[in-house]
Amino acid sequence: MTDPGAESPQRAGYAGWASQTDIRRRAGGTRSSQTIDTSDPIQTLEIVRPDDWHLHLRDGELLSRVLPYTAERFARAIVMPNLDPPVTTVAEARLYRARILAALPAGLDFEPLMTLYLTSSTTPDEVEAAAASKLIFGLKFYPMGATTNSSQGVTGFEDLHPVLESLENSGLPLLVHGEAIGPEIDVFDRERIFLDETLRPIIERFEGLRVVFEHITTEEAAAFVAESPARVAATLTPQHLLLTRNAIFDGGLRPHHYCLPVLKRERDRAALVAAAIGGDSSFFLGTDSAPHERAKKESACGCAGIFSTPIAIEAYAEAFHRAGAIDRLEAFASFHGADYYGLPRNRDRIRLEAVEWQGPDTIGCGNRGLEVFWAGERLHYRVASAAQGRRV
Ligand code: NCD
Ligand code: ZN
Repeated sequence: MTDPGAESPQRAGYAGWASQTDIRRRAGGTRSSQTIDTSDPIQTLEIVRPDDWHLHLRDGELLSRVLPYTAERFARAIVMPNLDPPVTTVAEARLYRARILAALPAGLDFEPLMTLYLTSSTTPDEVEAAAASKLIFGLKFYPMGATTNSSQGVTGFEDLHPVLESLENSGLPLLVHGEAIGPEIDVFDRERIFLDETLRPIIERFEGLRVVFEHITTEEAAAFVAESPARVAATLTPQHLLLTRNAIFDGGLRPHHYCLPVLKRERDRAALVAAAIGGDSSFFLGTDSAPHERAKKESACGCAGIFSTPIAIEAYAEAFHRAGAIDRLEAFASFHGADYYGLPRNRDRIRLEAVEWQGPDTIGCGNRGLEVFWAGERLHYRVASAAQGRRV
């Protein structure tokens, strides 16, 4: 698929590499970060401000803690509805959106794009109300029991055909957590089996249904999305572009590398990177940043979810850099998602510096701390500032 907005006047593109010898002074430092390479001249890269097309913002105090990290970096985010209890109606989503906006620090410009959680009680009328609301941008399907707060998920699509028809007519996308669940299903096969047994038939049957296959993790899913019509898209997380399942067992059990769908093999990771850098507009940025406090991660039954927002853009830049494709980052991070959702591309920009550094390892401390993805690992880019004055 080609990039539909490639000729758009909004396409700001790369400002190109510029030698900016005074940038370090202006940029300051990220808390607890460490600049490893300070050689001049520092090269910078400007890209249109990205959006996050898959994000868990949580609620209450945790929402207040994590929201600034998103709002400082991303202009908009698709906000997942898996609160406890989940966000299932337009009225609840409106209230959740108001809580997000109330938690937004002054001076930050951020737009939450709300979603509804699909349950066996969702009605076609609610879908129509969602489409008419202009607040709701998708309906999220969680298989029952698949992941955090999914006890209200559905077991399959059999009884939901009227809802899918309504979605098809409305143009709202179905956002899919694509894993088949059952004691007999190997955890590493969940996505592949879901694709073959559930997703493929639904996409064939509902010919106008728009589907985002969220946080894909396998070679098979990437190939499926690439071969599908443009109504089928996928989000890719930084962890699935950078790590394999070996990371979960690297010298001991690593709970902070546990997310769902779980990390896969190297051949899967390589296929996801190829999809991300390949220019296909069906693939776009969705961090799936999913904060859980330390005590809930480092536990005998630890929660799934990786908190990546504070270094998410840098982590994607790292994956693109390693693939020799940093010039492809902007389309993936800032264009493809907006185009898919039919929203205008952002106009403001962020600036990345080419410096080696280590990101922050924890936000907060003790049992309440939030471990940040890629803690202690080297990164080759750092978000320095927004070109229009907003500091990160
Ligand atoms: C997410 C969460 O914690 O809400 N966890 C995760 O591992 N990705 C839920 C989800 O997206 O599966
Ligand atoms: Zn998620």
